[in-house]
Amino acid sequence: MHPHGTHSRFLAEFAADVRAGLCREGQKELPSRYLYDEIGSALFEVICVLPEYGLARAGERLLRRHAVDLLDRIARPTLVVELGSGSGKKTRWLLEVLAACQPTTYYPIEISPAALARCARELGDIPALRLVGLEKEYLDGLREVAARRQPAEHLLVLFLGSTIGNFDRTAGVQFLRDVRQLMLPGDSLLLATDLEKPVEQLLLAYDDPLGVTAAFNRNLLGRINRELGADFNLRRFRHAATYRTAERRIEMHLVSEVAQRVHIPAAGVRVEFRAGETIWTESSHKYNLEEVVAMAQQTGFVCVEQWVDHEWPFAQNLLRAV
Ligand code: AVI
Repeated sequence: MHPHGTHSRFLAEFAADVRAGLCREGQKELPSRYLYDEIGSALFEVICVLPEYGLARAGERLLRRHAVDLLDRIARPTLVVELGSGSGKKTRWLLEVLAACQPTTYYPIEISPAALARCARELGDIPALRLVGLEKEYLDGLREVAARRQPAEHLLVLFLGSTIGNFDRTAGVQFLRDVRQLMLPGDSLLLATDLEKPVEQLLLAYDDPLGVTAAFNRNLLGRINRELGADFNLRRFRHAATYRTAERRIEMHLVSEVAQRVHIPAAGVRVEFRAGETIWTESSHKYNLEEVVAMAQQTGFVCVEQWVDHEWPFAQNLLRAV
């Protein structure tokens, strides 16, 4: 649980974001980071094992196959920092290999204390691994690790799962610049990116027949009901996934099935929806290998290796800070 002050600050910020996103002119929006409460995180774990959603398995396959090669290319001794560790399951492949060569400190950074606890349970048995969870936003956590590092230590920053895809492209580039600012030349960033693939495959991945992604998306309204006292009727909103060709991204929306009004007391608003009007809840950008190399160059890195999974086009890109 969050300490009381932190929790009320979080709720005030959540309420302000919901008010801003739902009361704006034009397209209504909600930030995708609010998809991950306890229920949303559990549903996301299920998404990752769905046959239609190959992304998580591809990322993990690459780590399993190339861990030794990858660790051969980074400077030692190494401190490992992970931006958004989730359960930490996929990171085991790297940490086991690294901890077998050197005593290793691993800093998972998460805003969710439940995710940090899960990560500690998942990875706590690796010999010679010291796990220090940081309950912070990504950049705040990375700043803290950078301040704690010893002069001889090098950072390996992990940004796995293609979470960069959930940023707008320009915000993604800015985020890489911000990360680079907290690193030193010679440090490494392992950046995972989901690659472009046939649209039908993407649509199935983001609108699976079992309805898990739909539940994951609709849970955002459930969360607003639970935490901000709103009266969304979840049955009156339908999940939709669309591929935008020009932007090369999947968008998730919640479509209002009827004209309706929703009261959100903690945000101090009543929101009107037209029948068919949507709330845009997430973007998931898809990349190609050349643009990742270019993004690295624009942000103070050089891309030293790209490991690609061909079963589900996906890349683990190793960037070195220059
Ligand atoms: C966390 N992120 C990389 C996932 C994605 O594929 O963009 C979130 C997700 N949304 C729907 N399914 C999975």
